[in-house]
Amino acid sequence: MKNISFKIGLLFLVFIVLIETVLFFTLYVHVVESRVKEELNALQARGNSHRAVLEKHYGQSTIDHVALMESEADTDVAITDKKKHILAYSNRLQPEMKRIIRHSSAQVPREGKIIESHWKTEKYIAAISPIRLHHHTVGYVYMFQPTESIKEMIWRINHLFMLVGALSLLATIFTIFLLSRIVASPLIHMKEATERLSRGDFSVHLHVKSNDELGALAKAIQLLSRDLAHLKKTRSEFLASISHELRTPLTYVKGYADIVRRKELSEEERIKYATIIYEEANHVAALVKELFDLAQLEQHSFSIQKEAVKLYPFIQRVADKMALAFQEKGIHFEYRCPSSLSLQIDPNRFEQVLVNVLDNALKYSKRGGHVRLDVEEKSKHVLITVADEGIGIPEEDVPFVFERFYRVDKSRARSSGGSGLGLSIVKEIVEAHGGTVKLESKVNKGTMITIELERDIEQ
Ligand SMILES: Nc1ncnc2c1ncn2[C@@H]1O[C@H](COP(=O)(O)OP(=O)(O)OP(=O)(O)O)[C@@H](O)[C@H]1O
Ligand SMILES: [Mg+2]
Repeated sequence: MKNISFKIGLLFLVFIVLIETVLFFTLYVHVVESRVKEELNALQARGNSHRAVLEKHYGQSTIDHVALMESEADTDVAITDKKKHILAYSNRLQPEMKRIIRHSSAQVPREGKIIESHWKTEKYIAAISPIRLHHHTVGYVYMFQPTESIKEMIWRINHLFMLVGALSLLATIFTIFLLSRIVASPLIHMKEATERLSRGDFSVHLHVKSNDELGALAKAIQLLSRDLAHLKKTRSEFLASISHELRTPLTYVKGYADIVRRKELSEEERIKYATIIYEEANHVAALVKELFDLAQLEQHSFSIQKEAVKLYPFIQRVADKMALAFQEKGIHFEYRCPSSLSLQIDPNRFEQVLVNVLDNALKYSKRGGHVRLDVEEKSKHVLITVADEGIGIPEEDVPFVFERFYRVDKSRARSSGGSGLGLSIVKEIVEAHGGTVKLESKVNKGTMITIELERDIEQ
């Protein structure tokens, strides 16, 4: 696997070297051009200054004097008459110089002219300056400079550019190497962290220093690891509770079935044990159904089929179903609901909510108590409360009653048949409707459940 820092580095390097090359090349061309131009201008200026001396004192002695002066310099001079016959020269005239003189045109401006500038291919660069006396051209000053010296200078420039180029390339590689490491190291850490997560090791610690996208990603991974750890813990707790919940009734079923099978029993005893077996089997069936509901709810694989439900007839129907059970236990049950109110809910799911809550009020109330169901309309919400005068819940247990399998009194639950799933189902369904559910309670005073649902204003 290719390292990410290597990839980032290579990409940066290619781009920066490309940019550097273009910049260096432009600079190089510019430097060389301007240096050559300077040389040409200097040559022209020298020719012009000889010309000025000659125009002041035109005569053979001045001409010889100029030629003599130039013989010690790097440059060479040749002075001709207007027909280009050579009058004097500084050193021996080379054939290239003669050729240049021969080919130069007679039309030369006052300030002179560069007549040979091809320093790469020719042996000399050359300039010409006309000598004028009384508005007539009487001759020319030719200046020559060997291109050897220019080539040498260019070579020195090349050398310098190569040195600087190599140094900056090294510096670039070094910087990019460092930078790409700095950029990639948090990514590499996060990759290792996620690998550990996938192996089931949730003890991930990422040092989040930056506030940017990488920092946010690291934070997200950290959160994910915490959530996964929590999920793993609750899942094993959940599985432990399920097996416990299933084992207890199954032990009864197994035990009583064994008795019925082996012993000579009276008809009365046989019916008694068979009833116990039947009830326990019922309990397991109910438990499995509740678990299935919960699993579906948690997966969000069920869809809430919301429809406009007229609340009063809906509650009346649920209450009628429960009425007999309340009556049997001698509990006064009443409900109140505005008759015109309708809500967007899933009637089947919501019936489950009301039945579970009312079932608790029934189970945990004493004979002669009151249970009230109230529906209240607020401007934006609808509050549904169920209040009983039952045994209540100790303060320290209240925060946990919505958890799966949580029961205040574990032993009592067996006689009342509860499994501790009712309220967690209530919570899931209400939240899937976009609502909230709260519980307040006082021991021996009673319990009140409040369901708050958003009201669809347009109705
Ligand atoms: N109205 C209430 N009065 C007193 N205690 C309550 C009331 N409602 C719930 N509880 C307590 O909260 C616990 C959890 O309630 P929940 O409805 O989730 O489970 P359950 O009634 O025990 O079993 P299930 O509803 O699954 O048959 C109950 O076991 C009970 O201890
Ligand atoms: Mg219950």
